[in-house]
Amino acid sequence: MPLPKAELHLHIEGTLEPELAFELAARNGVTLPYADTDALREAYRFDDLQTFLDLYYEMMAVLRTERDFADLADAYLARAAAQGVRHAEIFFDPQAHLARGVSMGTVVEGLWRGLERSQDEHGVSTRLIMCFLRDESAESALRTLDEAKPYLHLITGVGLDSAEVGHPPVKFRAVYEAAAALGLRRVAHAGEEGPPEYITEALDVLGVERVDHGLRCMEDPALVARLVRDRVPLTLCPLSNVRLCAVDALAEHPLPAMLDAGLLCTVNSDDPAYFGGYAGDNYTAVRRELHLTDDALRRLARNSFLASFLEDDEELRARYLAEVEAYEF
Ligand code: ADE
Ligand code: ZN
Repeated sequence: MPLPKAELHLHIEGTLEPELAFELAARNGVTLPYADTDALREAYRFDDLQTFLDLYYEMMAVLRTERDFADLADAYLARAAAQGVRHAEIFFDPQAHLARGVSMGTVVEGLWRGLERSQDEHGVSTRLIMCFLRDESAESALRTLDEAKPYLHLITGVGLDSAEVGHPPVKFRAVYEAAAALGLRRVAHAGEEGPPEYITEALDVLGVERVDHGLRCMEDPALVARLVRDRVPLTLCPLSNVRLCAVDALAEHPLPAMLDAGLLCTVNSDDPAYFGGYAGDNYTAVRRELHLTDDALRRLARNSFLASFLEDDEELRARYLAEVEAYEF
């Protein structure tokens, strides 16, 4: 039995495995510019975040109907459950779908169809987090939040993703203020490729409660001290960092130093179909390459539930935390 864990940094569009991509392409009459799944997997060589994002957005062309989004979510939840994920807070990128003529209702209701049976079928509780694309305009983000208003009962929070450098958090001040006023939780990618200043800005200007990645905080000791003091969770994605060249090799990942510094680190998969592993694979890889102890792994799992947005169900959080403490390696 795998270690129970929560996954807090997971882009549902990044769980599109080549086999499902070709199945959806056939179902929807979409032609992919790859001969087969092997040829597509060959394209999984990235120099940085942008080279990955180009393929990530290209592959979304196969997602057209509610059923597609439901199938995508269900496939992810089955795989995640098999790797010990008990709770998943799932990002989605509506602007990437709206731009292709797929409506907000199709996306959210389709994902919900997958999520609503997750607890019963997979034993995984779920939340949805709607991300704004930071390389789109602030006005587009505000319009997107407006379009999401009929579905806010299904959405727990907002996030910020896509190309980071050159798109600082401050650009999204207004939409985060509007989201907060609507009672939405707030997270943002910061310090993946962007500088530590973007992490500080995400905290100060956007009021985020968790930082996605946050890797580059290690360049700023005062920022590390603040993140430790305020117990701000970081959702790290080790295999993603290797594939997108944010670190040279997994053995050089700063996770052990971050844990030693007292940061509230969690381990997640980001875009598992593209980066070579789901949540459990990330735990296994850091254990092997970074020589983490059983205690360190238990701490990561405990952190994942502490950092989750389960304030609306503290009983469930307590049950998950008890499972972590009782786990025998
Ligand atoms: N969208 C999907 N994966 C992402 C990542 N790792 N960083 C920023 N945006 C993303
Ligand atoms: Zn991400």
